[in-house]
Amino acid sequence: MRNRMIAGNWKMNKTFSEGVVLAQGIVDELAGGTGAVDVVIAPPAVDLKGVSEVLNQAGSSVALSAQNVYWEESGAYTGELAPAMLESVGATYCIIGHSERRGYFGETDEDVNRKAKALMAHGITPISCCGEPLEVREAGGHVAFVVEQIKADTAGLTITDPSKYVIAYEPIWAIGTGKTATADDAQEVCGAIRKTLVEIFGAETAQSIRILYGGSAKPENINGFLEKEDVDGALVGGASLKTDSFAAMVKSAMN
Ligand code: PGA
Repeated sequence: MRNRMIAGNWKMNKTFSEGVVLAQGIVDELAGGTGAVDVVIAPPAVDLKGVSEVLNQAGSSVALSAQNVYWEESGAYTGELAPAMLESVGATYCIIGHSERRGYFGETDEDVNRKAKALMAHGITPISCCGEPLEVREAGGHVAFVVEQIKADTAGLTITDPSKYVIAYEPIWAIGTGKTATADDAQEVCGAIRKTLVEIFGAETAQSIRILYGGSAKPENINGFLEKEDVDGALVGGASLKTDSFAAMVKSAMN
């Protein structure tokens, strides 16, 4: 019903040549195929073209993602990238609303919503991130917080192909900290996200939207998350920067 997905978010790591080497390593490790698992890698913007060439040359099924986009078509927006630009280098996914973008660069739910609409108009699949900060979790408000984010991030969206809209639940306190949410923590929130999607889009669409867990996901803990009903894969940061750990997670998802 829902193909699992393992997506690697390289963040601000890997120069152009390093990115090409890492992409080639991933392609080589996964040369035997990835079965029904959708594998996505998200290098920094300047690496996209080079990584795209590696994937194409190998005829790899690994898909390419950007880490950010601006919602306008073109124009005087110095430093920004338009959906058509991502499309032109072969990106078929784009991460939006990552907590680092929200926290360091002031990205709001309204921005995330605009970015999703702009990407979908170009046939690019958003990987839309949500997640609560530590103080909200400690006060027990995490489910309500994330549900509100989902409602705001999806406002007015039309989803015709539910395989082309992906959500990543990433509790902020678990990102890059080595502190992982438990599989039950992830299921609690991912289940609430699914329920919210049912209310917004109806059961059929909601059942086909992938919800990923992110936050210190690694080969040692991925299986626990994958066993959960509403967790369809992982958005992986640190562990996606090494060929062997990333490939190991893909292989877990194939089982
Ligand atoms: P992490 O990052 O796996 O390094 O915690 C996940 C993410 O921020 O996407």
